[in-house]
Amino acid sequence: MELQITDYQSFKSEVLDNHHVLEQLLRERDETKLTALWRLADETRRLYVGEDVHLRGLVEISNHCSRQCHYCGLRSPNSSVTRYRMSVEEVTECALKAAFLGYGTVVLQAGEDPGLSPDIISDIVRRIKKDTSLAVTLSLGERDREELIEWRRAGADRYLLRFETSNSNLFKAIHPHKTSQTLSRLDILNVLKTLGYEVGSGVMVGIPGQRYEDLVNDLALFRELDLDMIGIGPYIPHPMTPLGKVLSSEDDIPADALTAYKMTALTRLVRPDSNIPCTTAIRTINRADGLELGLQRGANVAMPNLTPIKYRALYDIYPGKACQDESAEICHPCITRRIESTGRKIGKGQGSRSQHKAVR
Ligand code: 5AD
Repeated sequence: MELQITDYQSFKSEVLDNHHVLEQLLRERDETKLTALWRLADETRRLYVGEDVHLRGLVEISNHCSRQCHYCGLRSPNSSVTRYRMSVEEVTECALKAAFLGYGTVVLQAGEDPGLSPDIISDIVRRIKKDTSLAVTLSLGERDREELIEWRRAGADRYLLRFETSNSNLFKAIHPHKTSQTLSRLDILNVLKTLGYEVGSGVMVGIPGQRYEDLVNDLALFRELDLDMIGIGPYIPHPMTPLGKVLSSEDDIPADALTAYKMTALTRLVRPDSNIPCTTAIRTINRADGLELGLQRGANVAMPNLTPIKYRALYDIYPGKACQDESAEICHPCITRRIESTGRKIGKGQGSRSQHKAVR
């Protein structure tokens, strides 16, 4: 199906609540019929969040994980991974590099690592907030309310926790429950919001067993949760995981760049002022121009990796990650050139969602 609408207001009144049309757009494989969707997503992005592309420096601070998610290479039973945990000094050094390179945000990401005690994280957050003007985003998995309260007090600004899929049966099938668990991911997203974090979430596209109607429901949930940040990545099979051994069936949604772009574009249209990255997973399955196309199809954020090179390959959530061996110093001019080649510029400041209000 081709989108017949050329302005955001008409999309809002005529398509936003029409699940059938959204599903037809997601099913469309003929790229020539998708130019109207790309154009509308790009125009809506320009209108609501402007031309700036915000850079978030990603630091993968630990690959220890106590969970057994069926798709992720860091799952605890994967004994082929050499585990690491960065020291407080190493993390703060990476944050200083982010500030030096002019980034507005540092994202501290890890598996669900019980060794990263609340105090360690608070200490890191306090140091970064004292020494820089960076926004600090945490992405540390499903953590307790008390920890989230403490880190917010320490100065953390944002938290990322993808709900991965709105299909609760599929979610349960690929996320073995932890015994002490009281809050679901959706509960945690609500807690984060009440604590005053800017809240990010997102999904994987093309999980075996996922259906197009699930993606339409994902879009509805992005709207309902009023998310500040939304990341969409294609599912990439990891050979050392149970899901990585599952053969894809004909009914499965393709886990390809095109489907991820359609979701990115529609996400821009359902949450026009959110921060939407062109994710590393998209860039991994389209190395040639994955970043540029993502930025032209709704995305306004990129997340260069600042993790020390010696740890990069060990943060093996999926194989073949783009730009794995590029140091921050090599990455920076490259990503700058690629962003500027699309006619956009690198944003200054923290690039929070509330900051976008000034653009409109
Ligand atoms: N393919 C794609 N994305 C993955 N993630 C984890 N494993 C994979 C995989 N095999 C994503 C999840 C998680 C984020 C940190 O990485 O969406 O939330």
